[in-house]
Amino acid sequence: MTEAAAPTAARRAVTVEVNGERHTCEVEPRLLLSDFLRHELGLTGTHVGCEHGVCGACTVLFDGEAVRSCLMLAVQADGHAVATVEGLAPGPDELHPIQEAFRAEHGLQCGFCTPGFLMTLVPFLREHPDPRDDEIRRALSGNLCRCTGYQNIVAAVRRAAARLREAG
Ligand code: FES
Ligand code: FES
Repeated sequence: MTEAAAPTAARRAVTVEVNGERHTCEVEPRLLLSDFLRHELGLTGTHVGCEHGVCGACTVLFDGEAVRSCLMLAVQADGHAVATVEGLAPGPDELHPIQEAFRAEHGLQCGFCTPGFLMTLVPFLREHPDPRDDEIRRALSGNLCRCTGYQNIVAAVRRAAARLREAG
């Protein structure tokens, strides 16, 4: 006797703007936004670490605000705008000032956590153009890095803030 196949939930069409480009896909209602970005759109710069909202590696911008894409469903992004680390640099041979600052200050080692830090910092530096160190540390407290010890990351945030202020 063969076992009956488990019923699958009906797929739903979602339309999401990702890094300025509209994508319409049919997805299972249970599909995580992080898996949608990585597996449906091939945007593997969004990393998945803990998959339960602790490490911050999967951070993306959702309508301009930093969110953990492992805690959202793709269907919740229907009709919204998502930005991932792939959309951060202004051009193929250029880095965003925050990326440049991480490179200059050695704010990364293996780089696994880095996309999450960068995407956390975009709205933080928009709202705190001249942050104090305690504000920087609080802003980064939801992003875990197992390599750097954080000193260089904090230095990178200071440098990025200065660059962004200079650039107006
Ligand atoms: S993978 Fe989303 S918070 Fe860790
Ligand atoms: S640079 Fe390796 S986990 Fe942060």
